[in-house]
Amino acid sequence: MNKVLVTGGTGFIGSHVCLCLLEQDYEVHIVDSLINSSPNVVQKILEIKNLKTKIFEKDIFLHIGDIRDEKFLNQIFSENEFLSVIHLAGLKSVSESTENPLQYWEVNLGGSINLFKIMKKYCCKNLVFSSSATIYGNTDKKLIDENSEIKPINTYGETKASIENLLKNIYHSEEKEWKICNLRYFNPIGNHNSGLIGEKPSYPPNNLFPYLNLVASGIKEKLLIFGNDWPTEDGTGVRDYIHVMDLASGHIAAMKYLMSNKPRILNVNLGTGKGTSVLKLVKTFEEVNKCKIPYEFVSRRTGDVARTVADINLANKIFDWFPERNISDMCIDGWKWKNFGHVSI
Ligand code: NAD
Ligand code: UD1
Repeated sequence: MNKVLVTGGTGFIGSHVCLCLLEQDYEVHIVDSLINSSPNVVQKILEIKNLKTKIFEKDIFLHIGDIRDEKFLNQIFSENEFLSVIHLAGLKSVSESTENPLQYWEVNLGGSINLFKIMKKYCCKNLVFSSSATIYGNTDKKLIDENSEIKPINTYGETKASIENLLKNIYHSEEKEWKICNLRYFNPIGNHNSGLIGEKPSYPPNNLFPYLNLVASGIKEKLLIFGNDWPTEDGTGVRDYIHVMDLASGHIAAMKYLMSNKPRILNVNLGTGKGTSVLKLVKTFEEVNKCKIPYEFVSRRTGDVARTVADINLANKIFDWFPERNISDMCIDGWKWKNFGHVSI
């Protein structure tokens, strides 16, 4: 038995996680409603894997459906015995979550409850969950460790924090059985260096990196930088950007750690431990991709903070996991994915 279930496996992060699993000889089963991804992703993942290994057997399966659909999940679990579940399916837009909280609670929390119920029913009690650094409250700490205060300031963050709470309750109800790891991602960017898989663009994008791509491609005239008066090196916001391939390998490391250890629940940051300012990211992007990014400073964005950088000592220590790619790699690989969706160039 080497089957792993990946919810949200055709999405941005999920597709990279699936690729890493395949490269380590797991049989991958994806559950995805395709609300924010395409079924073609499976073919692209196989293309990348086959280029490297030249092995063409069928070892990835896409089950199209919604994690809120209990019957659908029941069917999959009744036909397959999974080693572990990596749960990434969910909605992730901060602004949308504020406008439509019911939908976010229903999908993120409701869908997760459904999944955990079925996992319990079929005694599949190994889980890696996609959490987010957005659950941490504002802090002056130079590096944010896992014991920092949990105080989300938006609906999306609240759904993530609540799922973590629920998982704590589930773990304590059966402490000898569940193995759970909440991975708190910092800022994932970049793509697989083939340029074949990447993030489905939302338009206009809320996040910095997809916006950089649009400016570099000429679709957007300039980047608006939200504030140059932050208490940081150059006055612009500092974040901990992590290459999505390093993030993906962190999931495999977490899953393997859980499988080879006693039941437990863990919260683990995945970042690089290094901060990069908006201006530094812009300059690096220009340099490595040989392009110009016009920008203008505007006022701060509501809800922003000056700096969020992860303390990644725990992941280093227990998973023996270390991110390998730097900001230049992220900018090069991130620019290779030029899928601007419905946006006309
Ligand atoms: P994504 O939107 O690319 O992937 C999510 C996938 O889940 C999509 O393929 C979507 O179709 C699927 N999905 C959504 N609702 C579903 C449902 N009800 N049933 C089945 N499938 C459903 O997003 P991503 O960036 O890959 O994020 C993956 C996970 O990581 C999410 O849970 C997100 O909250 C979390 N996360 C993302 C970031 C980030 O910056 N991208 C940061 C922190 C945490
Ligand atoms: C944002 C969300 C966070 C979410 C994360 C991943 C907010 C306040 N925070 O985090 O909850 O978990 O995305 O989806 O929305 N910037 C610009 N111009 C832009 C876009 C961004 O200057 O057009 C700056 C921001 O001010 C910030 C940095 O770039 O300093 C990174 O922004 P972004 O990519 O949106 O990530 P976060 O703010 O970390």
